[in-house]
Amino acid sequence: MKSNTEDKKYFLPYGRHRIDEEDLKAVRDVLLSDWLTTGPKVEEFEQDVAKTANVKFGGAVNSGTAALHAAMNAINIKPGDEVILTPMTFAATANAVVYQGGIPVFADVDPETLLIDPRKVEEKISSKTRAVIAVDYAGQMCDYDALNEITKKYGLYLIADACHSIGGSYKGFPSGSCADLTVFSFHPVKHITTGEGGMVVTDKKELIHRVKLFRNHGINTDLHQRKKMDSWYYEIKELGFNYRMTDFQCALGISQLKKLNSWIHKRNLIAKEYDRFFEGIKGVSPLKTESSVSHAYHIYVVKLNTELLKRNRQEVFSFLRNKGIGVNVHYIPVHYHPFYKNKFNTAKGLCPITEEVYERILTIPLFPGMVQEDVKKVCSAVKDAVQS
Ligand SMILES: Cc1ncc(COP(=O)(O)O)c(C=O)c1O
Repeated sequence: MKSNTEDKKYFLPYGRHRIDEEDLKAVRDVLLSDWLTTGPKVEEFEQDVAKTANVKFGGAVNSGTAALHAAMNAINIKPGDEVILTPMTFAATANAVVYQGGIPVFADVDPETLLIDPRKVEEKISSKTRAVIAVDYAGQMCDYDALNEITKKYGLYLIADACHSIGGSYKGFPSGSCADLTVFSFHPVKHITTGEGGMVVTDKKELIHRVKLFRNHGINTDLHQRKKMDSWYYEIKELGFNYRMTDFQCALGISQLKKLNSWIHKRNLIAKEYDRFFEGIKGVSPLKTESSVSHAYHIYVVKLNTELLKRNRQEVFSFLRNKGIGVNVHYIPVHYHPFYKNKFNTAKGLCPITEEVYERILTIPLFPGMVQEDVKKVCSAVKDAVQS
């Protein structure tokens, strides 16, 4: 098969979706049906994702961000409530707390895995703390035994931002089954896509009920229920949004989900190849992976040992981009963003491990459509970048 980098116009991105004929047919069928938005495919997709996560309920929404917002609302985060989370995440995780008027409190990460450190979480608990959000960074699940122990001890909710980890597991428990509420994203760089989309999954009936109210303006019945009851009447029980997902997006999701296991397998094969290659390269080290976790490898992140290199991180980044390798950086620590600095007075020094590691991380391409030639090109380009 032709390498993705052979075509000069083609840039090998760090992540890429895959759409096949089955996906196209699934979407087309719905587009030609009676239901464009909320219809039978929404419920089917919710059930399929909940089954993958080994929980009872799913609530589909139109992005991972909306899912986080709905989760924060479902657990009643109110102005002044504190929610503890990692700064090593996409800002949407923290933004969802702020949408509710809550205060994000950043706890530092483990330097080897970049996952939130449960001991740091416990240090940050105050009388205002209501919840902890764990982010399964890069696709490796957090230490949920330790996190559940802490949240139970202090009577807090545990929310999993599993936008990176669908299809992975922790001690045999699938992503989606280790917290009170778990949030997935179906953005095109993620494992499976619906264009934009997200879902909250849980075993808790009352919480999923609140997610479903929230995604539909706070209305207590949907159009189909009213039709069945021969009634126009509905009530707004609480303020909600239009966070609904369309039926054709859900049809795409159902079709994509069938391929999740084989794609996770392919991601793992590529990651293992990178691991082996980088073992012999001075100046580059992969993140630590815990043996208790089955990794979903949303992204592959390396740490550059810049003290040993002639190039700094920016120079390595530019060198690789010039070679058509779409490296990226995940993430700028959330507390560095001007919005957070201005509103919450966050500053450098708040989470020293995250800050130190941020200076040296680089995400290299990893997605199931990569062929052997692509993997080799990435390896040799990274080698050149750090050794020449
Ligand atoms: C960790 C994490 N949380 C939340 C989100 C937000 O998801 P979405 O882009 O679907 O809104 C993302 C997406 O990039 C993410 O990586």
